[in-house]
Amino acid sequence: MTATPYPKRTVDGTRGPTRLPVVILISGTGSNMRVIAERAARGELPIDIRAVISDRADARGLATAAGMGIPVATLSPKDFPDRPSFDAALAKLINQYHPGLLILAGFMRILGGEFTSQFSGRALNIHPSLLPKYRGLHTHRRALEARDAHHGVSVHFVTEELDGGPVVLQARVPVLPDDTEATLSARVQRQEHRIYPEVVDWFASGRLACREGQAWLDGLPLSAPVIREDPNP
Ligand code: GAR
Repeated sequence: MTATPYPKRTVDGTRGPTRLPVVILISGTGSNMRVIAERAARGELPIDIRAVISDRADARGLATAAGMGIPVATLSPKDFPDRPSFDAALAKLINQYHPGLLILAGFMRILGGEFTSQFSGRALNIHPSLLPKYRGLHTHRRALEARDAHHGVSVHFVTEELDGGPVVLQARVPVLPDDTEATLSARVQRQEHRIYPEVVDWFASGRLACREGQAWLDGLPLSAPVIREDPNP
């Protein structure tokens, strides 16, 4: 089977590219958002970033996005009585931009099933571990405490299960003897900035899809994630 949810996109330099509308969700620094936006601005990714939305008004990434001319918005959970009402308002805000892809880039809130089902097959997340290891928080500390030889980062489709959707691409890095959380997280983040734009490119150019709970790349089901090794540990 080779079906994909979106038609193949062509990038036509003379008549302007066909670009997939995307919305990016952040909570903090937004370095993954920035590398994706920079690649898009250089014409290296066939996406049109319609908005960057944060659940925190103080997210540094909002200023970065605004400085790049991208519309930004904040929706604070404090303004809602419970998670379902926040999720519903967030979905409504996102839908105003009609995204074909929702990119979670350091968005640190758990999203409920009603939200995730609306974006099923068209929402990606990046998580700093080699999933299924270390779902949730403090992944670098947990890898160090477990004396793992390798650690890394995963890009996966979003499902209701926290950090549990089909994994598409992982980058593996070595854990070095004198590593601290800071050195390990910096090594992992260098890989985040390589692999997230790559997966976004696959999706936006029609090579990647998620159907019936499985990721498909180039018309074939991914029985295991694609793995990248850190070339310069
Ligand atoms: C990244 O390290 C990303 O993997 C992590 O948040 C950081 C955001 O950095 N995401 C999660 O932990 C999600 N569970 P950034 O704001 O600089 O892109």
